[in-house]
Amino acid sequence: MTEEVCKLKKKLDNKVAIITGGASGIGEATTRLFASNGARAIVIADIQDELGRKVAESVGSSICSYYHCDVSDEEQVKKMVEWTVQTYGQLDIMFSNAGVYSSSSQTILELDFTGLERVFGVNVVGNAACVKHAARAMIDLNIRGSIICTSSMAGTTSHIEHTDYYVSKHALLGLMRCASKQLGGHGIRVNAVSPFAIATPLFVSVFKEAAKEVEKQFQALPSLKNVHLKVEHVADAVLFLASDDSAFITGQNLVIDGGVTA
Ligand SMILES: NC(=O)c1ccc[n+]([C@@H]2O[C@H](COP(=O)([O-])OP(=O)(O)OC[C@H]3O[C@@H](n4cnc5c(N)ncnc54)[C@H](O)[C@@H]3O)[C@@H](O)[C@H]2O)c1
Repeated sequence: MTEEVCKLKKKLDNKVAIITGGASGIGEATTRLFASNGARAIVIADIQDELGRKVAESVGSSICSYYHCDVSDEEQVKKMVEWTVQTYGQLDIMFSNAGVYSSSSQTILELDFTGLERVFGVNVVGNAACVKHAARAMIDLNIRGSIICTSSMAGTTSHIEHTDYYVSKHALLGLMRCASKQLGGHGIRVNAVSPFAIATPLFVSVFKEAAKEVEKQFQALPSLKNVHLKVEHVADAVLFLASDDSAFITGQNLVIDGGVTA
């Protein structure tokens, strides 16, 4: 294949993307996939500075940079989006992916509201800030952008614990759907990805040393023989929603669960 044909195949040629939570797990895998698909610039917005800088350096400082941003603080999100536009001149893709899990069992009877506010602060308020400021920048620049939020299988199911996390991921789908209706007139698409379980640091923080065992049990549930969910599968779905391959898809929740919730 000639170099010219290879170039034509790249799905994100010349696009500028922000990936929140890009220092680790799903966000890191997506950063790498975007880079290999021709993105001109990717900004990793995260709070893990050392890790985020390392990932950016390994992807290549000419296309990937790290920006410290706690997404639960709207002002930081606004500044991060402004910095991206000032530095790279455009914003085509917002992958609003940063998320946190419950810090305790969080059944409804023992619901700890400080814990709930922490989870909502990132998973709901943080996503709302990212969608809002990315959309404002895209409208100002007259860009038909794509916004993707990471919800979860938890966004459409229930659980005997972790009420705050499950409710936050349901709320995120509501945010995505409202934003898609309101931004469609500007040519901006808004979708979500909802993965099943993967042993990223977020998952390990919940199941601790048993994480690998729990993941194995989860991995046995899907109806797809011999396919185990990896962060790369989620990144593939995000790439699809970010690229023109999904030009007529908006307001959708792409569930990546091997058929568990079918
Ligand atoms: N791993 C799973 O099983 C799973 C399943 C479904 C959905 N998800 C969702 O996927 C997303 C990514 O999680 P992951 O599994 O890759 O975990 P991860 O722990 O590898 O990555 C999460 C990233 O978000 C960052 N982050 C956390 N709070 C932040 C904040 N306030 N501001 C900016 N960045 C912040 C973390 O520093 C980290 O780099 C989350 O929204 C999570 O809820 C994960």
